[in-house]
Amino acid sequence: MFIANWKMNGSEAMINDWLMGVALKLDKSLQSKCIFCPPVCYLSSAHNLIKKENLNISLGAQDIDPNDFSSLTGGINASMLTELGSEYVIIGHSERREAFREDESLLLQKINSASEGGLIVIFCIGESLIEKEQHKTLEVLTRQLEVINKSDINQFMIAYEPIWAIGSGKTPKLKDITNIHKIIIDQVKSYSKAGFLGISYGGSIDSLNSSKIISLGEVNGLLIGGSSLKYKEFSKIVLNQAKIQE
Ligand code: PGA
Repeated sequence: MFIANWKMNGSEAMINDWLMGVALKLDKSLQSKCIFCPPVCYLSSAHNLIKKENLNISLGAQDIDPNDFSSLTGGINASMLTELGSEYVIIGHSERREAFREDESLLLQKINSASEGGLIVIFCIGESLIEKEQHKTLEVLTRQLEVINKSDINQFMIAYEPIWAIGSGKTPKLKDITNIHKIIIDQVKSYSKAGFLGISYGGSIDSLNSSKIISLGEVNGLLIGGSSLKYKEFSKIVLNQAKIQE
């Protein structure tokens, strides 16, 4: 899958142009591999356009609030996201973990309420530069994954996003991605959760580096930030993979 994480970018007009642009570049079968995650305020108009133009692109939200707070000012829960057209939700992105101090107990609540509400969870994990330099990557990832073990998760993907690779233009060595993904897959499989849909890589993906990364056997998808904002660049990344498979 190709997940376009727009973060806090966009406008109604940009979203319309993007969806129509992607629809021109990618046929229905390639569109079915795309999950578009705009800011939550644009989900509804994106959903309407997707229906009107009969596109095959799925929608995801970038965050969720746990259901069990009914008096949570500003909160948006799973049933609201579903009503806006979301099938997926990103949980645990490092930017939210850091800026909003999202800790593991909150992430557990988010995962459980998303799953109960029928959303497919894209759960992000990744180490910081300091943790990498201190050779703590596996320790950190194992701890972050434990939330999945404790949860009542249904369908989910893991997104491995080294924090030092996000928006930096740097990516890990291919052999490191392979090794880390293998370890994550083994760890998740040991939890015996039926709905595991695979693992995506994220962090400074563009159309120049995407082919090599998506060709790795242990990579099932890409979570794309900056390079997803332009429909031509995003579509190129998807088309590159289609060419590999020809
Ligand atoms: P980036 O962001 O592709 O701009 O590095 C990825 C992400 O944070 O999901």
